[in-house]
Amino acid sequence: MRLSLGLKLGITYLVLIVLTVAAFGYFTMGFFQQSFLDEKKAALFTHANILANSSAPYLRDREQGPYLNYLARNQAERVGSRFLILDRSGLVMADSAGDFRGRVLSHPEILSALNGENAATPYREAEYGWILYLAVPVYSGKQVTGAVFVSADINPMVARLDEIRTRLLWFSAASGALVFVISLFMGAFLTRPVKRLIIAAGRIGSGDYGYRIETPPGNDEFGELTRVFNDMSARIQAEDNIRKRFVADASHELKSPVASITALLDSCPRREECSPEEYRELVQDLRFEAGRLRSLVEDLLVLSRIEGDQGQLRIEETSVGEIAEAVRKAAAPTARARGVGIRTVHPGDIYWPLDGEKIFRVLVNLVDNAVKYSPAGEEVTLGFRVQGDRLHFYVANRGAGIPPEEVPNIFERFYRVDKARSRETGGWGLGLAIVKEIVELHGGDLGVASEPGGETVFTFELPRLT
Ligand SMILES: Nc1ncnc2c1ncn2[C@@H]1O[C@H](COP(=O)(O)OP(=O)(O)OP(=O)(O)O)[C@@H](O)[C@H]1O
Ligand SMILES: [Mg+2]
Repeated sequence: MRLSLGLKLGITYLVLIVLTVAAFGYFTMGFFQQSFLDEKKAALFTHANILANSSAPYLRDREQGPYLNYLARNQAERVGSRFLILDRSGLVMADSAGDFRGRVLSHPEILSALNGENAATPYREAEYGWILYLAVPVYSGKQVTGAVFVSADINPMVARLDEIRTRLLWFSAASGALVFVISLFMGAFLTRPVKRLIIAAGRIGSGDYGYRIETPPGNDEFGELTRVFNDMSARIQAEDNIRKRFVADASHELKSPVASITALLDSCPRREECSPEEYRELVQDLRFEAGRLRSLVEDLLVLSRIEGDQGQLRIEETSVGEIAEAVRKAAAPTARARGVGIRTVHPGDIYWPLDGEKIFRVLVNLVDNAVKYSPAGEEVTLGFRVQGDRLHFYVANRGAGIPPEEVPNIFERFYRVDKARSRETGGWGLGLAIVKEIVELHGGDLGVASEPGGETVFTFELPRLT
């Protein structure tokens, strides 16, 4: 069975109220009962003692029976209870109601009184209901010479207690019901944001990433949850857009080399149909397109691998100088072909905790760009130095540079400033996207400063990872 939050809340409050009222009622009723009874007893003991004192002188004398009876009746009239006077043997000498005279009584209260002790006990009798029996000794000097026995009707007192109990019961039932109803409303009110969240999570789950919950007023936990949730769905939406665009861009980029290959093959479907010269050219062009495709697939693989094992760097103390030299060697053939020189500038050998393979790739991409976008005769500089607790790299070249308005875009996937030249330079616009991913994975900062027609410097700094 599924209980709503509101119902759970209501039941909890109901149980709490019932328990509290029950405990409260039990102790209050006990207290009332005791104090009512104590009050009654105290008053009756006083009256009984008054009668005991006034009857003491006449108790030994059997002749005084009528006078004692008069005293008992007199007291009974004033107090409204039945008074009996007994001698030492428990023989009734006087009875305000008259009928017990001459009988010997042996109620426990009377026996206590004859032993010199006051006693009082409430009883419930089938005929009369609640009765209080009470007895005090009658003294003559220090000797107990008899007892005064009182039988009082306490039914009115019990009735009053019953009424209090009934009222308490009604009161608790009413307040319990009220609290129950209020907490049902409270529950519905409190769970409204949760319901909205459930709906929103369902929408996001079914792919509607643009869905947002309107933020409830107030700064409570629900407001915060809603904000966090909306942030999360905004991020999911952004990621989803990037993914969609990436797939669209990648397929679009794949189209052009595939189209070129098809066109090339169509130009000479059979070897006999073209001259050896044309044929050689065809193979060369096919090789060029195949190479471009291979580099695209390689770059895509690199990117997906970086994203696949996010944060999975293989950090090792690595000789940074060795990496720089390896980069220079790797880029040298292209540089030589373009008539561009590569110079490394660093303060001897330094060891730094980093993922050597990935940082190598970063530097190769930056140096490759610098070489590609430098005119012949220029020199590319690759340098690094330690600044405080950060390792600072830079790759600089002189050339056309990057227009300031393009700087924010160049790190995006498939972005090239001059698309028309991409065939000549052979790039896909993925190099800097890879650079950015790797530097961010290292917790580093990446930057670029470029004067169009002047110097372009790419920099990044890595913290000392442990
Ligand atoms: N040193 C530089 N000088 C001038 N422009 C640059 C330089 N480095 C990058 N760019 C610009 O930034 C764009 C994006 O660079 P990126 O490395 O991502 O792509 P690419 O070099 O064109 O292709 P790929 O690196 O995938 O082969 C380049 O197309 C180029 O326009
Ligand atoms: Mg590049």
